[in-house]
Amino acid sequence: MRAMAIAQPNIALIKYWGKRDFEHNLPAVGSISITLRDLFTEMEVELDERLASDKLTVNGSIDEKMLPRLSSCIDSVVGVDRPRGKIVSKYNFPVAAGLASSASAFAALTVAAAQAAGKPSSVAELASLAGRASGSAARSLFGGFVELENCDNSIALSTLRESDTWPLVVVVAITDTGSKAVGSTEAMEISRKTSPFYTNWIERQNDDLDTARDAIVRRDFEQLAAIAEHNCLKMHSVMWASRPPIVYWNSATMRCLQTVRRLQRKGVGTFFTIDAGPQVKVVCLPEYAADVRAAMAETEGVVDVMVSGLGEAARLVDSS
Ligand code: DP6
Repeated sequence: MRAMAIAQPNIALIKYWGKRDFEHNLPAVGSISITLRDLFTEMEVELDERLASDKLTVNGSIDEKMLPRLSSCIDSVVGVDRPRGKIVSKYNFPVAAGLASSASAFAALTVAAAQAAGKPSSVAELASLAGRASGSAARSLFGGFVELENCDNSIALSTLRESDTWPLVVVVAITDTGSKAVGSTEAMEISRKTSPFYTNWIERQNDDLDTARDAIVRRDFEQLAAIAEHNCLKMHSVMWASRPPIVYWNSATMRCLQTVRRLQRKGVGTFFTIDAGPQVKVVCLPEYAADVRAAMAETEGVVDVMVSGLGEAARLVDSS
């Protein structure tokens, strides 16, 4: 009744923002992401009939805040009448700061919980269960370049390209390590209900997905860069025009974008993307990784820099 899994966060290049079904947590749009290699979450789940309630530790400390969401994720994997569990999680990067920690957490938790309960499931089933807990988590069940498509009452995932066939590098410029003020679940609903740009965002998404998919299949970095930056800025415009406005950026976020523009003017193959937080993820061709890393580290207001290659799907690890 014990299992351990590891999952990497993923970074969306064509973003998921908005839900078509809040209850089942189904996204309003498809998305395309890259799974990272060097940032990870490890989740160990031990189901034990003797426990009266679930217990969670995050990096060695007891955590009550994240527990309800993790408990209901285990409920959906194992069933509500399940034994309670001891959940031990470890992250090698800041949690809840816009670095997709929920994606890797729920992906790893889903895989570990299914195994601990002796419920072998297909990757598609696990992805769907992870997606119920957090939409972006479904993508971490797959490695490399991943597309999440909307089907009638569900989602379907596929790897568009394996990580080793186009080994891009992601430099994460951390501008604030604190937790974000508004979680993405709540912020998406505010956008859906109040942003005058929301409908347009939904309507245009398939065009962006087509362009990005084509760029990935043909390994056209410039085309991917242009559509990813455009899609990211569009998503943030939807947020900024919401009421109340949702602004995740700080002044260092903006300075990072200026650094990326300066690098691009010098011919460096790189582009930025930003999620529900102030960190800037700078994607580049591998030959430029050292230059991009140095430029981001020197940017005023950047407190830390993490570098990652592209990685594999969530998986079980031997915990014996
Ligand atoms: C901006 O997956 O965190 O990172 O389904 O409500 O848990 P919930 O949302 P979440 O949203 C991710 C939003 C994003 C874009 C993306 O990853 O596609």
